[in-house]
Amino acid sequence: MEIFSNNAFNHKSAIIIGGAGDIGAEIAIQFSKVGTHKIALLDKDTSGLNKVARQLKNTTSQVLQIEVDLADENSIQQAVKNLYADFKDWNVLVTTAGVFKGGTLIDLKADDWDKLMAINARAIFLSSRLIAEKMIAIGGGKIIHVGSSSTYYGTPGSGAYAASKVVINQLTQTMAVEWGSHNIQVNTICPTVTETKFLEFVTGDILHEQFRERLKQRMPLKRLLKPSDIAPTVLFLASDGSQFINGAIIPIDGGARLVST
Ligand SMILES: NC(=O)c1ccc[n+]([C@@H]2O[C@H](COP(=O)([O-])OP(=O)(O)OC[C@H]3O[C@@H](n4cnc5c(N)ncnc54)[C@H](O)[C@@H]3O)[C@@H](O)[C@H]2O)c1
Repeated sequence: MEIFSNNAFNHKSAIIIGGAGDIGAEIAIQFSKVGTHKIALLDKDTSGLNKVARQLKNTTSQVLQIEVDLADENSIQQAVKNLYADFKDWNVLVTTAGVFKGGTLIDLKADDWDKLMAINARAIFLSSRLIAEKMIAIGGGKIIHVGSSSTYYGTPGSGAYAASKVVINQLTQTMAVEWGSHNIQVNTICPTVTETKFLEFVTGDILHEQFRERLKQRMPLKRLLKPSDIAPTVLFLASDGSQFINGAIIPIDGGARLVST
């Protein structure tokens, strides 16, 4: 099995849900650079989709852009229908769409809990099972979810977000077991705080730089994670080299979860 050959990805076609986001865009770019046959970007951010699709034009991948509102089941169903209208052989799914709402458990609004669960958990369940059914019909595939390292800790101010991401960890294990016999491997990566617009939840706050500095100091590698550190793991999990990795919850945190403060 040649996972590092020039044509290791030319039989792969990847769907990236959340493809307009910072981590999604980097994953798309790296898939494109290794010759992935087709790439579909799904997101609700139209201008973000246009921007990422333009970046991919420099490489050979064929790119499909599909707008979807993950809060709406009908929109998810329509997006999957559009995805399969002219092409059936999507054999990689990456789910990286997500939202963040901060607040202590005492203060968080019930609506914010619902929004987190709708996008970060329910939408991942709904979209994955629709696409898994199609993967079963073509003989298998790879599913990689983007979870969060917040699931390893008690997370003051992010408890509801972490709870929504724990749902992904559990779904990953059940999907891996239920769909394994159909040659579908399902894994989740759990990045620590990453340098993306997600960090803007503290932008505008004069503590922003201090917050970043404090985070950096807590990292064993003394720097923050970047999307370019995450994408290669996703590519490995999408490659034929990871056939026996199934149902894994993989931290991408430079060892931060092991540091006692
Ligand atoms: N940045 C971090 O610090 C960090 C750390 C760990 C995990 N994560 C996870 O990584 C993933 C990607 O985050 P990112 O940093 O690239 O953030 P991002 O905001 O750049 O990307 C998230 C994407 O999700 C899309 N999205 C949100 N709601 C949607 C909806 N209703 N319908 C369709 N699309 C929707 C957004 O439009 C955006 O493009 C998220 O799941 C996040 O929870 C991020």
